[in-house]
Amino acid sequence: MHYPWWSVEALTAPMLIAAISVLHVLVSHYAVGGGLFLAVETGFARRTQNKNYLDYLKRHAAFFILLTVVFGAITGVGIWWTIGLASPKATETLIRVFVFGWATEWVFFVLELSSAFLFLYYWDKLPPRTHVIIGWIYALAAWISLVLITGITAFMLNPGEWLETGSFWSAFFNPQFIPQTVARTGGALLLSSLYVYLHASLTIKDAALRDMIGRRSARPALLGAILVTAGGIGWYVFLPPSAQAALTAAAALTILTALLFALTATVFFLLYLGPYRNPGWMTPGFTIALFLFGTAAFGASEFIREAVRKPYILYNVVFGNQITPDEVVPFSRQGYLESGLWTKPFVAEGYPQVLQDGKIQSERLLQLPSEDRVRLGRVLFMYHCNDCHAAREGYSAVGPLLIGKSRSAVRWTVEHLDEAQFFMPPWAGTPEEAELLTDYLMTIAPKSPGGMRLGQASEEVR
Ligand code: HEC
Repeated sequence: MHYPWWSVEALTAPMLIAAISVLHVLVSHYAVGGGLFLAVETGFARRTQNKNYLDYLKRHAAFFILLTVVFGAITGVGIWWTIGLASPKATETLIRVFVFGWATEWVFFVLELSSAFLFLYYWDKLPPRTHVIIGWIYALAAWISLVLITGITAFMLNPGEWLETGSFWSAFFNPQFIPQTVARTGGALLLSSLYVYLHASLTIKDAALRDMIGRRSARPALLGAILVTAGGIGWYVFLPPSAQAALTAAAALTILTALLFALTATVFFLLYLGPYRNPGWMTPGFTIALFLFGTAAFGASEFIREAVRKPYILYNVVFGNQITPDEVVPFSRQGYLESGLWTKPFVAEGYPQVLQDGKIQSERLLQLPSEDRVRLGRVLFMYHCNDCHAAREGYSAVGPLLIGKSRSAVRWTVEHLDEAQFFMPPWAGTPEEAELLTDYLMTIAPKSPGGMRLGQASEEVR
C-alpha cells in the first residue's frame, strides 16, 4: 500500500514469486541433502578405498556445485527481487523482525560457498581426512542455513507468541518451526537421492557401482519420506484455524493435498521396490520418472504452503494486499486513496478538484466523469485486489469471477470481501471508493453467456 504497485499481467506478481520459489526450493533442498550425501559417501569411499566410487563422487560434486551454487544462488537472489517488488510490506516486516537472523544466515552462506569450492577444487590436494572434514563443514553449514531460513519463513504461517512478545526468539521459534524443519530436512534427504539416481543412471556405465549407489542412497531417501510425512502432520496440526479452513474450503487445495499424498506414497514405494530392493531397475527412464514424481510433490507442497496463508501473507500481521489488520478501520474512515503514500499524490496531481484542505473528499470522487472514476477504480483494484487477482484474464482473474453478477451484487461483494470468501481481506475503503471500484470492475466483467443473465433478470424482477 505504501509502495508503488507492480503489475505482472495475467500471472500476477505473487505467482511470479511462486514460480521462482519452486525452482529455488528444488535446488536448495538438494544443496542441503546433497552436501550430506557427498560428506558421508566420500568418507565411505575413502575408508573402503573404492577408487571407482571416489571418481564418481568427484564428478557428482562438480555437477552439484554448478547446480546449487550457480543456479541456486541466482534463483535465491531472484526470490529477494520478486518478494521485494511484489510483497514489499511483508518483506519489510520480515527484514525488521529477523534482521540478525538474515545476517547469521548470510554468514553460513559464505561458509557454504567457501567449503564447497575447497571440497571440489582441492579434492586431490588435501589430506583425505581434511577433505572429508571440509565436506562435513559444508553439510553442516548448509543444514544450518535450512534451519535459519525455515524459522523465518515458517513465521509467515504462524507467528505464535511473537504477536504478544514481539521478541526475535518467539518469532523464530514459532509453532511451525519444528514441523517445517523436520519436513524440510526430510525433503532434502529425499530429493538429493532422486538427484543422485538421475545423475548416476545417466552417467555411470558400471552396473555394480550403480547398484551400490542405488542401495546406499535408498536409505536416506526412505528416511526422508518418513520425515516429510511426520513434519507434514505437525505442519497441519500447528496451522492457524484460517489456514486449516482454507485447506478444506478451497477445492484446488483439497485436490493438491490429495495429489501430494498420492505422489509421496508413490515415490516411497518406487524407492523401496526400485533402488532399495531391485537396484537393477535404475534405468534412466525409471530415475527420470522418480525425479518427476518427487519434484511434482515438492511443487504441490510449496504451492499449498503459500496458498493457505490467505487472507494473510504474514498470518495476523500483514494481509495479502500489503496492508495490516489495524490499518483497515482508519483507511476505511479516511479513504484508501487518501491513506496511501503513492495513491494520495497521484490523486492530488491528476484530480485536484476532489481535494479540500489538502485531503481527498470521498463524496467528490463521485462527481468525476465516468472515465476518471474507472481510472481511479483501477488504481483501487491494483492496490486492493491485484495481489491475488489478475484483472480481465489470468491467474484468479476477477473478470470471469464476476460473470452473471449484477452491478449491485458486485458492489456488495466489494464491500463485503471477507463475507463473500473468508480468504479475502476486508474492504478498507470508503463507500464512494467501493462505487469507483465497482465502476472499474463492471468494465472488465465479460458479458454473461447467452441465456444466463440471471443476475440482471432477477434485478428486473425486484
Ligand atoms: C488475499 C487475496 C485476495 C485479495 C486481496 C482479494 N481477493 Fe477476491 N478472492 C480471493 C480468493 C482466493 C477467491 C476465491 C477465488 C477462486 O476460487 O478463484 C476470491 C474470490 C473473489 C470473487 C468471487 C466471489 C464469490 O462470491 O465467489 C470476487 C468477485 C473477488 N474475489 C473480488 C475481489 C476484489 C474486487 C478484491 C479487491 C477489492 C479482491 N477480491 C481481493 C482472494 C483475494
